[in-house]
Amino acid sequence: MSEPEQPSGARPRKLYGRRKGPKQSARQAELRRALFPQLQLPLQAGADPRNYFSPAAEEVWLEVGFGAGEHLYEQAKAHPHIGLIGAEPYEMGTAKLLTKLAEGPLANVRLYEGDGRAVIEALPDASLGRFFLLFPDPWPKTRHHKRRFLQMEMLDQLARVLKPGAELRFATDDKSYLPFALERLMAHPAFSWTATGPQDWKTRPSGWPPTRYENKAIKGPPTFLRFVREDKMAGC
Ligand SMILES: C[S@@+](CC[C@H](N)C(=O)[O-])C[C@H]1O[C@@H](n2cnc3c(N)ncnc32)[C@H](O)[C@@H]1O
Repeated sequence: MSEPEQPSGARPRKLYGRRKGPKQSARQAELRRALFPQLQLPLQAGADPRNYFSPAAEEVWLEVGFGAGEHLYEQAKAHPHIGLIGAEPYEMGTAKLLTKLAEGPLANVRLYEGDGRAVIEALPDASLGRFFLLFPDPWPKTRHHKRRFLQMEMLDQLARVLKPGAELRFATDDKSYLPFALERLMAHPAFSWTATGPQDWKTRPSGWPPTRYENKAIKGPPTFLRFVREDKMAGC
């Protein structure tokens, strides 16, 4: 599927995965018409993301591929002074999160219905306090590994936009994505793993609400990784 929302001048790239899903209900269509425009992220290259929120957020966290939005919603509810940006191209994902937000409104959520890479590329240096990539599409076939979200080039971008000391949280239940991600995260000089023992990656840490895919646990027990953006690599 082609991705039309790139900043002008960027080279064309593909977004793999679904945008369209089942037909939306009348309620979902109404929320898309009435509520979505109020929460839609007006992506602007170089803009301070705190100003996407009103009042301006103290700090901004980003979740890429929020699915139905369970984790994003709970994080936003638990941290009202943090601005939560969610990127998700699947329209039914937005629809499900909009339903939650209509039932329990939160002022600190902004949604980008598209490729999370465009959001990251538009962020200024050291502007993000936390990044979440939870149960990303596994792309298990070797020839599809290049479609995985967590690539070395992506880690370079994340190192650029995360503040020193900011956390990168990653979870997967896929046996081959785990070593793929760990290999890259451990090799990247900007990131350090916070784990001190198996309990740190085998058990979902507190302050980390579950997601739909975690509850499905299709491929096996999930692994939870927390990495910190090191200070010493500022400018890398
Ligand atoms: C396996 S689902 C997991 C959803 C959710 N994180 C969970 O744990 O329930 C992966 C999600 O990532 C989304 N996705 C895939 N590529 C993406 C991209 N480049 N930017 C943003 N979201 C993406 C998909 O649309 C899908 O909803």
